[in-house]
Amino acid sequence: MTDTVQNPFTVDYVDGVVILLDQAALPAKEEHIHCTNWQRVAKAIADLEVRGAPAIGVAAAFGMALAAETSTAVSGEDLLAELAEVGEALNATRPTAVNLAWALEVVLREAHQAPRERSSVVDAVVSCARRLHAEDLATCKAIGDNGAELLAGASNVITHCNAGALATVGYGTALGVIRSAQKTNPGLHVWVDETRPVLQGGRLTAFELGRDGIDCTVIVDGAAASVLRASDVGAAVVGADRIAANGDVANKIGTYGLAIAARHHGVPFYVAAPLSTIDPNTLSGQEIEIEQRPAAEVAQYRGAAITPESAQVYNPAFDVTPAELVDGIITEVGILRAPYHVSIAAAFNN
Ligand code: MRU
Repeated sequence: MTDTVQNPFTVDYVDGVVILLDQAALPAKEEHIHCTNWQRVAKAIADLEVRGAPAIGVAAAFGMALAAETSTAVSGEDLLAELAEVGEALNATRPTAVNLAWALEVVLREAHQAPRERSSVVDAVVSCARRLHAEDLATCKAIGDNGAELLAGASNVITHCNAGALATVGYGTALGVIRSAQKTNPGLHVWVDETRPVLQGGRLTAFELGRDGIDCTVIVDGAAASVLRASDVGAAVVGADRIAANGDVANKIGTYGLAIAARHHGVPFYVAAPLSTIDPNTLSGQEIEIEQRPAAEVAQYRGAAITPESAQVYNPAFDVTPAELVDGIITEVGILRAPYHVSIAAAFNN
C-alpha cells in the first residue's frame, strides 16, 4: 500500500477496517487512521480528520459497514434497529454537508430491502458502501470533464477551501474541474485561498495540487478581492456542502465573500458538486443549518492563544452564497444554469 493521496484513496474499507488519510495532520505528516469501530469513524468526521462533503458521506457509509460486520445482533431485524441508531449518531457529527445524510439514507434503504437474515443485511450494507465509494470517484471524473471547457482559455483560476481528491474518494469536484482542464490547458495557474480558520486551502489544496504538479499560489482569504481586481482570473470554482432546490449554495465560510468579489470584478463563479450534494427537500439557503465550530479553531493557533480571553468568538463553518451569484453548477450530468429551480428539477427527473 503506497501512501499517496489517490492510492489508497482518502477513505477505504479493507479487511473490516475503515482507513482514513488523516487530514488534520496534513501536510506535515501523511498518516492513515485505522478505525476498527464505527465510533472512531464518527470521531474522525467530527474532528475533521476526514472532511469534505463527499468524503464524509463515504466514510459514514463504511462506518455503517463496519457497524454491521461487528454487530452482535443475531436477527436481521435487530441488526436493522441497531444500524438505525448508528446512522443517527453518524449523521449528528456534521449537520451542513447533505452528502452525509444522503449516504446514510441510501445505506439504510438498501439494508431494509435485503432479506431479513442477518447475513443478508450485512451483505447489503457492505456492498452498498463499496458501491458509493466507487461511484464517487466516477462522479468526480465526470464533473471534472464536464467543467473543463469553462477553463479552456483561462490563465488563472481561484478556489476556496479544499474540494479536491482529499474531500472526495479521489479526483475532487472543483479541483477535478481544474485537473481535467489542465490536460488541455497545462499552463493554468491556481490561486488558493488559505481558508481560515482550519486552512483547508493552504494545507490541503496546495498539498494535492503540488502532488499533481499543478502550479498554485496560496493567498490569505482577505487577498482574494485584490487578486481578482489585479490579475487575469478566468473563473472562480468552488465545491459545495449543500445546494438548495433554488440553487443557493452552502460551502466553506468565505465562499460568499469570494462570490461577491467575483461578481464585482466580472469573473464567473462556478460551483462543482455531485447531484448528491443537491438537496431537493431544502427549498432555499435559509433552511440550511450552518455548523458552528469550536471557538479554539479561531482563538488559538497550534494550541497557543492568538486572541485575548475577553474576546468572544463566532465560528460558523459555512456560509450560503445566493443563487444569483452562481454562474453555473457543474455536476456529473452537465452544467446547470439559472433558473436553478428549473435546471435542478430537470437534472433530478432525467
Ligand atoms: O469543513 P470542511 O473542510 O468539511 O468543508 C469542506 C468544504 O466546504 C468543501 O468545499 C465541500 O465539502 C465540498 S468538497 C468536494
